[in-house]
Amino acid sequence: MISPIEWKDGYVRLLDQQALPHSVTFLDCRDYRVVAQAIKDLRVRGAPAIGIAAAMGVALGAQTLEAKTFDAFSKDLCEICDHLAATRPTAVNLFWAIEQMKKVLNTHRDASVVELKAQLITEACRILKEDIEVNKAIGRHGAALLAEGQTVMTHCNAGSLATGGYGTALGVVRAACEEGKNISVIAGETRPVLQGARLTVWELQQDKIPVTLITDNMAGALMRQGRIQVCVVGADRIASNGDVVNKIGTYSLAVLARAHGVPFYVAAPRSTIDASMSSGDGIPIEERDTGEVANVLGMTRITPENTVIHNPAFDMTPAQLITGIITERGIFRPEDLARGMLEC
Ligand code: MRU
Repeated sequence: MISPIEWKDGYVRLLDQQALPHSVTFLDCRDYRVVAQAIKDLRVRGAPAIGIAAAMGVALGAQTLEAKTFDAFSKDLCEICDHLAATRPTAVNLFWAIEQMKKVLNTHRDASVVELKAQLITEACRILKEDIEVNKAIGRHGAALLAEGQTVMTHCNAGSLATGGYGTALGVVRAACEEGKNISVIAGETRPVLQGARLTVWELQQDKIPVTLITDNMAGALMRQGRIQVCVVGADRIASNGDVVNKIGTYSLAVLARAHGVPFYVAAPRSTIDASMSSGDGIPIEERDTGEVANVLGMTRITPENTVIHNPAFDMTPAQLITGIITERGIFRPEDLARGMLEC
């Protein structure tokens, strides 16, 4: 299984997703600021993965602190947390994971600084391990939705690379394949950063799962021809009413799916649900550098120098376009999500 993030003895190892698919390169981070920069630069990306990377960054930063008392240690650690939290605004998993780290700090107020540093490493590694287990549970629930021979359309990359491992949307596909079903995937290329073309295709090829790449504007034509039976995508943040924020282009895909009677599922862990958001309208949408649109992968410029460019990294899909939300606790209709969040 691909491991995009690992805690090594004293440093964090990230699989550099900007180098894929051309080379498998690792970025060894010995400073939490390098982890933060890697999140900003999409070297590690995907909602659960940036949460895990941030947790590891907090643990890494903690090791370098020289504070001797709990209060001084806590103050310095909060500054590290703030630095990591400022990297990307949309995926709630980032803030969730940092909050988990702060909870560990605050439940060990009587511990020595040495002990606190060890506890923070333990917690970051636990978050990583738990995420993989959660993805496998999402996969088990979601696999039941896929029938032998079906073709699944996905968008962006919600696979091993976007999580601790196994994946959410691609975890569903993976689990169905592990059950012996012949499932094939259509990956939308996902302009402007091409997570579909570069990452989803590479990842599925590693597992020998059949995958066909299309450009984002081809999905409607394929649905009309009956060549897509189901859509499964990931999420960066889900409001309590079931509205979903995910990679730009998800909304268009959901509209197309509705127009063609194709079921549209979102696969995500409960850590992606933001109970404080009553609807998706309040979720902050990251606006990224215009260069991502103006140039293909930072290389060839495809538009005149003075072009006005808008580059929102995410969009919001209203709950009514979503057939179901696949979580580690089962599949919920968007309107039943709040109930699902409360169930144990
Ligand atoms: O900008 P990215 O690559 O971090 O965006 C990632 C996505 O939108 C994914 O679909 C989402 O985080 C779900 S990952 C399991």
